[in-house]
Amino acid sequence: MPATAPRPVTAPTAAASDVAMPAAGVRPTAFLGSFFHAPRYGEVELLERALIEVDARGVIAAVTLPDAPDYAARIASAREAGTLACLPDGTYGLPGFVDLHVHAPQWPQAGVALDEPLDVWLQKRTFPLEARFSDLEFARRVYRDLVRKLLSLGTTTTVYFASNDLASSIELSRIAAEAGQRALVGKVVMDDPAANPDYYRDASTAQALADTETLIREVASIATTTPQGAYAVVTPRFIPSCTDEGLAGLGRIAERHDAYVQSHCNEGQWEHDFVQARFGKSDAEALYDFGLLREKSIMAHCTFLTASDGELFARTGAAVAHCPISNSYFANSTCPVRRLRAQGVRMGLATDISGGFSPSLYDNIRHAVMVSRMLEDGVDARVPQDRRGAGEASRITSAEAFWLATAGGAEALRLPIGTFQVGRAFDAQVIDTRVPGADLTGFGVFDAPRDVLDRILFLSTPENVRQTWVQGRLAFERGSREA
Ligand code: GUN
Ligand code: FE
Repeated sequence: MPATAPRPVTAPTAAASDVAMPAAGVRPTAFLGSFFHAPRYGEVELLERALIEVDARGVIAAVTLPDAPDYAARIASAREAGTLACLPDGTYGLPGFVDLHVHAPQWPQAGVALDEPLDVWLQKRTFPLEARFSDLEFARRVYRDLVRKLLSLGTTTTVYFASNDLASSIELSRIAAEAGQRALVGKVVMDDPAANPDYYRDASTAQALADTETLIREVASIATTTPQGAYAVVTPRFIPSCTDEGLAGLGRIAERHDAYVQSHCNEGQWEHDFVQARFGKSDAEALYDFGLLREKSIMAHCTFLTASDGELFARTGAAVAHCPISNSYFANSTCPVRRLRAQGVRMGLATDISGGFSPSLYDNIRHAVMVSRMLEDGVDARVPQDRRGAGEASRITSAEAFWLATAGGAEALRLPIGTFQVGRAFDAQVIDTRVPGADLTGFGVFDAPRDVLDRILFLSTPENVRQTWVQGRLAFERGSREA
């Protein structure tokens, strides 16, 4: 064995399942372990015992596999420099998840109050809750907890709706930046006095637009000191909340600043019918006409998109945030992932807290697979089989859902994240398959890489997520008081 061969990966002081880290205070720049990722839609790759080297900015500089001639030498040099982190056998690195749609102020009602239809739920439960976020102290308490929760579930990048309140929306951006999460944050515009309660809306259209510009400025300033980035998002809640002037003004702001845009598009029957009645066109067409369907637009749900709406998305480069759990409650349908992907529409996955009850993208991966099968086959056995479901090969595989949660989200946001490829940020979650009580080793029966990944995707619990890294920095470690 040459002198430079890798030594056993577990440090003598670490428990068998712990990641062997450099000395306290030293940031690792080389990660040795096995990593799953999905660089192409529907395909999974296992980088077995790979060495991933990361530069000072937290960007992947090299990925070296055991058959490379300099593999052992690179490991030895990182070890000598004291910057090597080793993932022990039984642990796997996965790309950090990208959650494309989260309502941060709805975190206190996650899991409750889901028995009403969307419009009733908004007026009765959601607007009164979101209105409380003008209390900055309350907002801080909730937002800190949510950001930490998402990091603990492996989510490294999140696109947030904050509330209608400007100050706490800026605070959410700051809290995520400080916690080490990559956050895209919007102050929610609801400027139509006829559609929104007096206690929860913008004072005027002009104020809503001015606040949006202030958010863009403030978040740009937060970004200057945030290694993983911080981004503002132009955020009309959805067409029914906004005036024509508000929507058009936000479209102009998005263009002037080349800003991200987010909204809800074609979520359910009620919204679909409302927009048809108001404009005589689809949600997608109306958003496009207001300048809101653009390259950096993230539109939640999109369950009712027609073929021509899909073309509009593909042509503009706007992306769909697929929220499978939320769809099951509020959308009266489910997003046709396969059909839209076949049209070339960009798409990622999202929790839609709290329309979706779970903050976990693992849960949404599972549900995305399940609802796609129901979409394909239909669900009412009284309907003859040939008319029961959407057919059209609507079902997606776990590999496709994994892509949506990682590389798909990256593509939607046009950010260099989501895979372990050179030039992308090192955003990773370390999954331990050997946690007592949460064992994912499967008794060694099915051990092909896809089986190992599928067990992680379908069965992992929060206890299996040991560490979360964002831009090469440790943002969460289970059991650590600092994280
Ligand atoms: N449409 C407008 N606002 C909301 C919201 O908060 N959640 C969901 N699911 N849909 C919406
Ligand atoms: Fe939503």
